[in-house]
Amino acid sequence: MATIESLLNSIALPDSPTPRLDAELLLAHALGKPRSYLRTWADGEVEPAAAEAFAASLARRRNGEPVAYILGRQGFWSLDLDVAPHTLIPRPDTELLVETSLALLPGGPARVLDLGTGTGAIALALASERPAWQVTGVDRVDEAVALAEGNRARLGLANASFRASHWFSALAGERYGLIVSNPPYIASDDRHLGEGDVRFEPSSALISGADGLDDIRLIIDQAPAYLAAPGWLLLEHGFDQAESVRELLACHWRSNSCSQSATSGPPISTITSCQALSGSPGVQNSSVEPVPPTKATWSSTTSSLRWSRYRLRTPRRQRSGLYQRNWMPTSSMR
Ligand SMILES: C[S@@+](CC[C@H](N)C(=O)[O-])C[C@H]1O[C@@H](n2cnc3c(N)ncnc32)[C@H](O)[C@@H]1O
Repeated sequence: MATIESLLNSIALPDSPTPRLDAELLLAHALGKPRSYLRTWADGEVEPAAAEAFAASLARRRNGEPVAYILGRQGFWSLDLDVAPHTLIPRPDTELLVETSLALLPGGPARVLDLGTGTGAIALALASERPAWQVTGVDRVDEAVALAEGNRARLGLANASFRASHWFSALAGERYGLIVSNPPYIASDDRHLGEGDVRFEPSSALISGADGLDDIRLIIDQAPAYLAAPGWLLLEHGFDQAESVRELLACHWRSNSCSQSATSGPPISTITSCQALSGSPGVQNSSVEPVPPTKATWSSTTSSLRWSRYRLRTPRRQRSGLYQRNWMPTSSMR
């Protein structure tokens, strides 16, 4: 029988950017042990059944399938989430949305909405950090809603709930102090869609029209009716979409920075974009009005990888700008 170390040393995953990590995760999974076991028991022999399961998962990985789908699990924030091919594998970049949300609303009760919740990653991370918040997650894909609900139940987070909704369609009359979303934002002809892990992820989680902005346009258009005053809208978008998204917000809502700005709708207090993680040319910050102290500094270092066990290398890593919008009440709105 082969030992753990000899098995790990013999594998080849030429197309993976992280072959050793992949192999360790898959072998630990086949053994039903944590990854640390591989180091502790490097000379231990691997039973034939485990070796067979390992070989089968390696074959899937060689075929390009993401490790997270093979394992059925992915770390996000401090949580271990079930994942499935019905929705996106949560990315470390998206943890910046969680960090930003927590910084914007430091404590106390709040109603929070996660649009396009997928596995429930953002909603559950927020619910785990803020027991006083009521977090609602919605997704158009029924299987994603079921997956998120399964994660919620397993994690015992009673302050989160999930429902099916085409963006705001099932939320009539609801208002939220914070709306957060990592919507699909890839252009339909983006060449990266044919490469790497994203080939295995559903287009419903990735693609949003010819310029990637169809869903963001719709969310920006509809969000004011669902935001409390004051309220925040936080959007993840592509690294090269920040300017377009800021312009969409400035011109859709009431803002001094757009001459064709809407005459109705909530006035914008702050527009900020920032960059998460690596692969991008530094931090982007811009605002149309003075930034409140709570959000004065957003930086690429605020997105932590501490809890992410497996970092996926996909185009989305580079698409990590965040958009924050704040609108403050005026006397006419109170
Ligand atoms: C990029 S994924 C994000 C998933 C999760 N929030 C995350 O960050 O890992 C986008 C999600 O939006 C969902 N979605 C796409 N179109 C939608 C719509 N019209 N209404 C609601 N959800 C939608 C997809 O099913 C998918 O789960």
